[in-house]
Amino acid sequence: MLDYLIKNATLSTRKDRVDIAIENGRFVEIAPQIDAPANDQFDADGCLVCPPFVDSHFHMDATLSLGLPRYNQSGTLLEGIQIWSELKPELTAEAVKQRALELLTWSIAKGTLCIRTHVDVTDPSLLAVDVLLEVREEMKEWIDLQIVAFPQDGVLRTDGGKELLLRALDKGVDVVGGIPHFERTMAQGSESISWLCSVAESRGLLVDMHCDESDDPLSRHIEHLTYETRRMGLGKRVTASHLTSMHSMDNYYVSKLLPLMAESGIQAISNPLINIHLQGRHDTYPKRRGLTRVPEMLEAGVNVAFGHDCVMDPWYPMGTHDMLEVAHMAAHCLQMMGASQASTLVDMVTSRGAAVMNLEGYGIEVGNQADCVVLQAKSAMDALRLKPVRLLVMRKGKIIASTPPVKATINLNGIQEVNFTI
Ligand code: FE2
Repeated sequence: MLDYLIKNATLSTRKDRVDIAIENGRFVEIAPQIDAPANDQFDADGCLVCPPFVDSHFHMDATLSLGLPRYNQSGTLLEGIQIWSELKPELTAEAVKQRALELLTWSIAKGTLCIRTHVDVTDPSLLAVDVLLEVREEMKEWIDLQIVAFPQDGVLRTDGGKELLLRALDKGVDVVGGIPHFERTMAQGSESISWLCSVAESRGLLVDMHCDESDDPLSRHIEHLTYETRRMGLGKRVTASHLTSMHSMDNYYVSKLLPLMAESGIQAISNPLINIHLQGRHDTYPKRRGLTRVPEMLEAGVNVAFGHDCVMDPWYPMGTHDMLEVAHMAAHCLQMMGASQASTLVDMVTSRGAAVMNLEGYGIEVGNQADCVVLQAKSAMDALRLKPVRLLVMRKGKIIASTPPVKATINLNGIQEVNFTI
């Protein structure tokens, strides 16, 4: 007897509809028709079943703090950092934890079950580090949380920044973070990259730096991060987040940079919602979009994923932690609406994000942990177009969230129902 059976599923990897059998928390068979009895089953009726959404770049210590202690009036990254520095001394463990746990209920409802969150390690109390380590442990049954030691104010710019970052890693933080463009000088940015990569190398850790989150085309820290990635042989263990300066770089320089990135194995993350909101703020007209060169990086062979980055915090007042909203924004800002690009966009909030996080056993394949999401949509393009409800969210073979299908009733001289899946 199977534990669970999903009937008539559409998978992005296959043309025909399939049934998906689940036993002991794992996918045990995927085939056009499975007739074995099951304790419970769901008829997907052709709806898209995808692996859980992956948010490869988030800030859970700041989430849901919008308006504390004040709102960001300029809409710039730098005012956001200033507001966060005003809030930091006021943070309490209880409040940070309560906000993080509330956010995670939103994540689960939207089918986002793998999250890489940065945590600020330039607060001398490391209060948020302790909180997020607790949250990672308490929520591990439902969500894979990876935590990055993120020196928000600069690891060299902050007094004792190196010691604080090392203390955070000693506590059990998973990934080494950085912010070279926020150090005092370009040279110190490079120095920070070399030191942070050497820490990751010696401890066998992953690296994910905020890198060149700027409209300055001469912010070229990605060049040095790529160099150190190759020199130390870190390859796919390293990720560069944001890379917004690449939007404004000279084309000739980028034509040299992209092959070097591909050669090193470095991965990249773009944060479309936040980049379109924060970048170009010093421009009059025309205003730059400020997103990094995603299609070009993919073309060059660099893996790219999307992050949500923020939900209702000093940098971004909106959001529901819906990764399809991120992909929808990306489709517009990156001009990626070709028919074949829809599935690539969905990959960037699922499998490509899982690759950034170096997750193992991810995906709807026999033998893997039975984690998946059933969407009220029948194709990748509809998943983007409709940002559909998550009919079911499954983790380890158990349904942990569900939302009823959406239908509108239209009355135009007679009642008509509109099903949003068509
Ligand atoms: Fe970020």
